[in-house]
Amino acid sequence: PTNKTFTMIKPDAVQDGHSGSIIKMIEAAGFRIVALKKTLLTPERAGEFYAVHKERPFYNDLCKYMSSGAIVPMILEKENAVADFRTLIGATNPANAEEGTIRKLYAKSIEANAIHGSDSDENAEIEGNFFFSHIEQF
Ligand code: CMP
Repeated sequence: PTNKTFTMIKPDAVQDGHSGSIIKMIEAAGFRIVALKKTLLTPERAGEFYAVHKERPFYNDLCKYMSSGAIVPMILEKENAVADFRTLIGATNPANAEEGTIRKLYAKSIEANAIHGSDSDENAEIEGNFFFSHIEQF
């Protein structure tokens, strides 16, 4: 039985030309790409995506950063997708990320941390549907 997770390559990593290398790592780890595009968030739409962090001190900076350049959102499928993807990307703060993880390789800071990964099946569904219509998911 497979399930799904949602990810996006963040503006710093897209800007630096790491999208291809990151997608290669994701596919090599056994994830199937269900949906993928390159797009741009407005600060308002970034705020909507990260609404759960509204009360956090880093919220405004996060919205500004996430709308500062192109992002590459994707829906991915694999057995144990949410947990395995979080292992592949490593800790939120790259200083704590394991060797060989995407964040260890490409993240610059706790904010500009290269890539997002959903924290639950429920959020994966919500986040995927935020970016992709049903006919774009197959
Ligand atoms: P992500 O896990 O994708 O979703 C929340 C984001 O907020 C996180 O990645 C970081 O980009 C950012 N973030 C989390 N904690 C902090 C922090 N302490 N300071 C700044 N940014 C943070």
